[in-house]
Amino acid sequence: MTYIASTGRYGDMIYNRCGNSGLMLPALSLGLWHNFSESDHFENIREILHLAFDKGVTHFDLANNYGPPPGSAEITFGKVLREDFKSYRDEMVISTKAGWKMWDGPYGDWGSKKYLVSSLDQSLKRMGMEYVDIYYHHRPDPYTPMEETMATLDLIVRQGKALYVGVSSYSAAQTEKAIALLRELGTPCLIHQPKYSMFERWIEGGLLDVLGNEGVGCIAFSPLAQGLLTNKYLKGIPEDSRAALHRGNGAIEEGEITEDKIKKVSRLNEIALNRGQNLAQMALSWVLRDERVTSVLLGVSKPGQLTDSLKCLHAAPFTASELHMIEDVLRTN
Ligand SMILES: NC(=O)c1ccc[n+]([C@@H]2O[C@H](COP(=O)([O-])OP(=O)(O)OC[C@H]3O[C@@H](n4cnc5c(N)ncnc54)[C@H](OP(=O)(O)O)[C@@H]3O)[C@@H](O)[C@H]2O)c1
Repeated sequence: MTYIASTGRYGDMIYNRCGNSGLMLPALSLGLWHNFSESDHFENIREILHLAFDKGVTHFDLANNYGPPPGSAEITFGKVLREDFKSYRDEMVISTKAGWKMWDGPYGDWGSKKYLVSSLDQSLKRMGMEYVDIYYHHRPDPYTPMEETMATLDLIVRQGKALYVGVSSYSAAQTEKAIALLRELGTPCLIHQPKYSMFERWIEGGLLDVLGNEGVGCIAFSPLAQGLLTNKYLKGIPEDSRAALHRGNGAIEEGEITEDKIKKVSRLNEIALNRGQNLAQMALSWVLRDERVTSVLLGVSKPGQLTDSLKCLHAAPFTASELHMIEDVLRTN
């Protein structure tokens, strides 16, 4: 059956300007780290991607190593792009990354020119695309001079293989340096992709200030702490949850769902219910409460989770008292 996008797709989404750039991103973007590989159910993947686009989620985030096996999320995404989304390519912002280990030997990891150039060529081939909208260096590299990595990002933009570039998980100081190097080269740093949620707040210690001052966007990954900041683990570990599936590659493990965490989750859940949201929705609204955050980068395993999460966009702003109550919960041991 031919896919035809919903005509109302832009009606409900909020689009935020990415830093000082010309690019607008949806307040909620979709990440394909887990649940989009060749070992996942293809019709479920397709349904999630259709639903996302129909709801105005124009930004899809990938990386060379998303799978398993690594690369297979790009292959599946490429299949849906080719079969269903072909005529909508210009309405989408598609990103990929390199920086974690992708292949054996000295040229398939970290941040050298050798790795970043060949990895992007491979990603483009897997997705069947001529260019990506955003190419990221996936993590800081202590071995390669940052000058080399940033010059490579600049080169890739000049070659037309990416429209914009960004960095992921760079510290505040590393980000300042990367921004300055890229500016000097004439290719601005568009965006930073850090981990940020109620349970992971390192970016409040300087990075958000750097991004705000420099006019660089911020897209927060794992805003639900991989599903922990929802009501799903309140009564044990459901069989179909990420923690139960042992997906590897950094996926949350059962051992991380501790009694202490669940106590906090349970109190946060109460606060959410009192303000008319479920916990997933409140956790996403909370990440978006800071206007320096351009977008939350959500993962889902089922279409219903996307429909549910999207409701965060139309919630009432937090009152001072709600923010205080959340701080109280997060501060207690
Ligand atoms: N740059 C980096 O280094 C980096 C690292 C990690 C991730 N990322 C990016 O960030 C994206 C998101 O990461 P993530 O998947 O860890 O994000 P997340 O949004 O924190 O967690 C996603 C999981 O939360 C659960 N979920 C989502 N919506 C829900 C709802 N409404 N109700 C109940 N449960 C819900 C699902 O768990 P179940 O699967 O258990 O159903 C889903 O798989 C990735 O896909 C990737 O694009 C980037």
